[in-house]
Amino acid sequence: MARVFTIAVKDTDRTFPCAEDQAVLGAMIRERSGPVNHGCCGGGCGVCRMRVESGNWFAFKPMSAAHVSEADKKKGIVLLCCVQPRSDLVVAPVTS
Ligand code: FES
Repeated sequence: MARVFTIAVKDTDRTFPCAEDQAVLGAMIRERSGPVNHGCCGGGCGVCRMRVESGNWFAFKPMSAAHVSEADKKKGIVLLCCVQPRSDLVVAPVTS
């Protein structure tokens, strides 16, 4: 049975559950929680680009280098449709 983690959206009171075998974006949309809109859900459009402020995640599908560079990854920037949680996460919009 998949473990379920809590995803918090920074600077809001919004949290939602996400299982370790689910994409964070899918869980966010299902719970109607968080600032991102529905995009391609395939790692190509960049609509779901956010920063993981804390916690561990796993990229279960490739993130477009056009939207997430290697330098971005080092700052915790991900495409939420491509990542699954491996712990509780705090996510935030990318501001710069
Ligand atoms: S929804 Fe398009 S890259 Fe995530």
